[in-house]
Amino acid sequence: MSTHYTSHEELVRALNRNGQEHLAQQLNELGGSRREELFQQLVTYDWERLGRLVQTYVLSEGAVKIPEELQPAPYYPMTPAGPDQETQYRAAWAKGAQLVLEGKVALFTVAGGQGSRLGFEHPKGLFPASPIRRLSLFGWFAESLHHMQRRFRTVIPWYIMTSQTNHDATVGFFEENDYFGLDPQNLMFFSQAMLPAFDLETGKALLKSPTSLALSPNGHGGSLTAIRESGALADMSRRGIEHISYIQVDNPLVRPIDPLFIGLHALADSEMSSKMLPKREPMEKLGNFCMCADKLWVIEYSDMPVALAEEVDPGTGRLRFLAGSIAIHVLRVDFVERLTADPEQLGLPFHRAEKAVAYWDPACGAAVSPSGKNAVKLEMFVFDALPLCSRTVILETSREEEFAPIKDADGRGLDSPLVARRALIERGARWLEQNGVLVARDAAGEVAGMIEISPFVAIYPEDLQAYELPAQILEGDTFLL
Ligand code: UTP
Repeated sequence: MSTHYTSHEELVRALNRNGQEHLAQQLNELGGSRREELFQQLVTYDWERLGRLVQTYVLSEGAVKIPEELQPAPYYPMTPAGPDQETQYRAAWAKGAQLVLEGKVALFTVAGGQGSRLGFEHPKGLFPASPIRRLSLFGWFAESLHHMQRRFRTVIPWYIMTSQTNHDATVGFFEENDYFGLDPQNLMFFSQAMLPAFDLETGKALLKSPTSLALSPNGHGGSLTAIRESGALADMSRRGIEHISYIQVDNPLVRPIDPLFIGLHALADSEMSSKMLPKREPMEKLGNFCMCADKLWVIEYSDMPVALAEEVDPGTGRLRFLAGSIAIHVLRVDFVERLTADPEQLGLPFHRAEKAVAYWDPACGAAVSPSGKNAVKLEMFVFDALPLCSRTVILETSREEEFAPIKDADGRGLDSPLVARRALIERGARWLEQNGVLVARDAAGEVAGMIEISPFVAIYPEDLQAYELPAQILEGDTFLL
């Protein structure tokens, strides 16, 4: 970790210059090893830079700049629009498959988040996501990776980004599970950077204890610098990896390695590509893919002007800004190289998130657990790299096939484990039906049994053709493949 100051005096001057006098004072009040402990943490931060961030993002709110004259972003439809596009998709699939089998594609999972909404006491990747076996999210992705490695007789290295808060538990989980049968040589775990949380009113960095700051991970956008600083980018170059398939840890429906998507991205010379799905409603809580002056932007739903979000395309009768971002991307390795060449100049903005953060109050020498929002956390978002690309590609996918993130605890929101497991059951049932199996459904049309199809077995419905399937699945049946 880099050190920005070599002496106490230098650090104290920087703290005082940047509105963090309370930290300087705390440092002076501590003695011996406790003082050294806080000093060692504080010197890892550039307080001039943090001071500027506090001014821009904590003490004022006008940080998010929405580009003007937004237009809907073009995208490749899920189903090719005609014979020419069909040919194009076939060529893209072949290209993607070729890149995978040549070992030029890596999987990258960001799993450094705190998962606070889910309220699960372990890292989110350990969450038992599958409907019958209750396999963890990490285990589920590992099966998918096995499938693709077997199918293309290749090695797909898997890079997993954690954060200080969950790194050891994540690595320990893989060890305990014997890396889910994957070769640990092809797995790499690394942590993203952490940033202090700042008091909402004063912009002062909060302490977690007398000798440490209250820190949180710097957002999934922090993955771009973390890839480089951890040595993962160099590892990718050594292995001849050209494209990074980026997924988040919370979506069990995702196809971690999608040859069509990778191929469309590669053939278009795209630097970073994204999957989208049609939004359910104008203000659905998904980022909006928008074009501005030939650059692709994701505008968060909360920043999207309502009037624009509600515009309807008279030709199709659908929303003009239909494309919602679901955090599935492919990035070129050389794009990440270019973007992170100078980590101080990454070029991604920060976003402020107001949160309740427990802290230690030096004024009264006690721990405080606030009931409401008291702090600002600063996060970078990976999709903010899109406007920095010379070329981008968007591919449409469907919610039913590829998107059911686990964000909320059951009963506390739409993106819950129950909904995700149900989506896996329904997808499994559809794939079985497409292969001639009769699946019992209830009056509401929902599958009346339990179905789980391991990604080890099938990634696409046609993969099931290789298996002996039952003629039907009756009400109350449990079917695991
Ligand atoms: P979310 O933004 O949904 O956050 O992350 P979260 O931490 O999982 O959950 P909440 O908001 O605290 O409830 C989306 C994805 O980005 C990763 C998460 O691990 C998840 O895969 N992420 C998020 C990081 O890797 N680092 C971060 O700093 C934030």
